Amino acid sequence: MSSDNASSYGAGRTALVTGGGSGMGRATALAFLEAGYDVVVADVNSEAAAATAALAESRTGAAHVVQVDVRDRQSVRAMVEGAVEALGSLDVAINFAGITGAGTMIVDTTEEHVRSIVDVNLLGVWHSMSEEIGAMLTAGAPGLVINAASAMALRAAPRSAAYAMAKAAVVHMSRSAALEYAPQGIRVVALCPGPVNTPMYQSNSEAVRQKIAAGVPLGRPAESDEIARAVLWLASPDASYMTGNTFSLDGGDAA
Ligand SMILES: NC(=O)c1ccc[n+]([C@@H]2O[C@H](COP(=O)([O-])OP(=O)(O)OC[C@H]3O[C@@H](n4cnc5c(N)ncnc54)[C@H](O)[C@@H]3O)[C@@H](O)[C@H]2O)c1
Repeated sequence: MSSDNASSYGAGRTALVTGGGSGMGRATALAFLEAGYDVVVADVNSEAAAATAALAESRTGAAHVVQVDVRDRQSVRAMVEGAVEALGSLDVAINFAGITGAGTMIVDTTEEHVRSIVDVNLLGVWHSMSEEIGAMLTAGAPGLVINAASAMALRAAPRSAAYAMAKAAVVHMSRSAALEYAPQGIRVVALCPGPVNTPMYQSNSEAVRQKIAAGVPLGRPAESDEIARAVLWLASPDASYMTGNTFSLDGGDAA
């Protein structure tokens, strides 16, 4: 399928994007809207989610907005129920909501910090994926769940143990879910981006950003649109046999 076809594939289809108020989540929500999907943008920051919807309005048409705190199962359940009500179905769920790590060595990292990372980046994805798959099973239709892991899930780096372990767990929970729900036609893929030029990446100092970029074989971070287009392809018929795998988009980072 050409990218033109991929980008017009979404007519009549539906998608939910967590973390849709910023970075890759925002770019992905906009890409899916442009491809014709009906989209729910979910974020803990409702102003940011509304800003994504306003951007969409000026380009492609309306998006639905839901506030969610992915750390809270009840909030996630309400998000998925609201999405199904607004969209009528749930074909694709993309879990981008996440936070970055503290940059400390292991012995200096507090339990509080580890728990805060695990709450959002691991349990947040667990809650989201569980409720999304539950809705797909109830509908009795095939579906796709894409969970944001990271290149850091596949290789270690100093001062990132809590973040990296949570992302590694996202890879493994995605594999388990893919095996459990393949019989119902529900696919689950863990996305492993390298550095991406989002507000999360920009929160690093200039010196740190230069160091990160220099460590990528392509010599630069990805732009959010490059990730969004690949996610759109994952949801296209061209990727219909893909499940239970990690999908790296890292400029050669893990090579
Ligand atoms: N930027 C990178 O270099 C990079 C690389 C690999 C993986 N990732 C992962 O990709 C995902 C998206 O990253 P990004 O760079 O676009 O980040 P970002 O900071 O630009 O956006 C993250 C979004 O998640 C939302 N969020 C945070 N906590 C939440 C919560 N409890 N409930 C609901 N929403 C919440 C934020 O409000 C924000 O809108 C994250 O999971 C991140 O860990 C990022």
